[in-house]
Amino acid sequence: MTKTAADLWNELESIPQPTLLELFSSQRDGGEGVDEPGGKARVEMLTGRLELGAGREDDPMAPGGILFDWSKTHLDRAVLGKFEELADAMKFGEHRSKLFAGEIVNPTEGRAADHTTLRGVGDAAKVEEAAALIDRMGMLVEAIHQGAFGEIAHLIHIGIGGSALGPALGVDALSRDLSLCDVHVVSNIDGAALEAAFAKCDPAKTLIAVASKTFTTIETMTNAESALKWLADNDVDDPSGRVIALTANPQGAVDWGVDETRILPFQESVGGRYSIWSSIGFPIAMAVGMEDFREMLAGAAAIDVHFRDTDGRGNLVLRAAFSDLYYSRVRKCETRAVFAYDERLGLFPDYLQQLEMESNGKRVTADMQPVDGPTAPITWGGVGTDAQHAVFQLLHQGTHLIPVDFIASIAPGDDLDPAHHRILLMNCFAQGAALMAGKKGKDPARNYPGDRPSATILCDDLDSATLGALIAFHEHRTFANAVLMGINPFDQFGVELGKQMANAIEEGGNEFDASTEGLLAAAGLNE
Ligand code: F6P
Repeated sequence: MTKTAADLWNELESIPQPTLLELFSSQRDGGEGVDEPGGKARVEMLTGRLELGAGREDDPMAPGGILFDWSKTHLDRAVLGKFEELADAMKFGEHRSKLFAGEIVNPTEGRAADHTTLRGVGDAAKVEEAAALIDRMGMLVEAIHQGAFGEIAHLIHIGIGGSALGPALGVDALSRDLSLCDVHVVSNIDGAALEAAFAKCDPAKTLIAVASKTFTTIETMTNAESALKWLADNDVDDPSGRVIALTANPQGAVDWGVDETRILPFQESVGGRYSIWSSIGFPIAMAVGMEDFREMLAGAAAIDVHFRDTDGRGNLVLRAAFSDLYYSRVRKCETRAVFAYDERLGLFPDYLQQLEMESNGKRVTADMQPVDGPTAPITWGGVGTDAQHAVFQLLHQGTHLIPVDFIASIAPGDDLDPAHHRILLMNCFAQGAALMAGKKGKDPARNYPGDRPSATILCDDLDSATLGALIAFHEHRTFANAVLMGINPFDQFGVELGKQMANAIEEGGNEFDASTEGLLAAAGLNE
């Protein structure tokens, strides 16, 4: 009889749960007369390397890759095998084919999810359309760099959520050594955010990018109006001539007053939190140049090709999803933490929060049934080694079990004494080892229970291709999690209600609960 997903989740729960140190013992019996690999063999079984040259038509031999190591997690052969059965039961292969064929994978909104086409992977016609959009952006970026708008030293990029987190991450990660343009990403409606950017820019040399898929988001449109006023107040002729619109609603941008030649459109079928690859990535290209932006796309394409063409546990993205689901559903972990041992990835945990929590924080399945278990854990994290001196106490001795991802680069991101980078990496690896091994103390307060899981993602270098690959890896990881849970990762109705309520308050004349009415009165907002 064919097993259902529910049967397989039950079976996963009843698989024995050895400790991490037991898993490393090479004498362990894996059941059914099979020896479970321990020690180095276990590391070999659970470590995989992706070469970023793969999938790059321009330069298949391009160096650089990423090593993924899940050997300090509780994955073993039995768990991996069961998840492979689950993937079959959930028709993972079919869902993945639909994604890459540009079919509808977001049924509630009747849309495909075409972000991979911007990286050159997917349905041929859609790839061609995406390439034309990227070329258009490239021409504008190059024209600006060559002085088509006069001397441009600053770009204020205005957007929020998916229209800001990717640009902020990309600019921060890639333009530390050399920036062709000083970029400020402003998202919050709190005027203090925009004022901070104004303070750092010369209005006579500033461009404004208004980034909004819908071109209706209240925070973005309000900030954009204030930016235009700032230019006008500072005697800039034709302030709206300084605006570049990045949007899937070009008509909305025209109606708002942007000239068509300065609108960089992208496809409706590219979700906001998957839009860094589209014209939403314009500020990244402005900061590092179009060539590096294209490298970022190429790195992401290498992950697309691996994810599309590899089955079972050999698919490293799928393996990450197996680990995520093992901890969230079998071990009931409510959070997962990501620590980047690299200053350049300081914004990566923020980026992942939207990607994972907005995609998979759902309570019904794609066919509208209540979900049969917890969905996305809470993603949180920070930068090493700072976080060690702030939150790692809880990781080592707290009562929560928290699976951790460590991300680091072998090549340093600084030119100082190599001691900096050596100490950084040694700390990263030591934390994983300590979480796993624990230590018996002379009293309970000094006891470290150990057996706490972590995975390590170790990049050769954090260049544009690697950043693209890291982001694409997590996009597909999020998709794979969703498929195995039976949910739609591409809608986000959860954010709508709060927006509607805020609009209702703004419009006035509506009655709210007594608490909210009290707060409105206290702030003088109910007149
Ligand atoms: O409120 C959530 C959200 O819809 C995100 O999904 C999106 O990235 C963000 O708002 C911004 O939307 P837009 O790009 O349309 O301004």
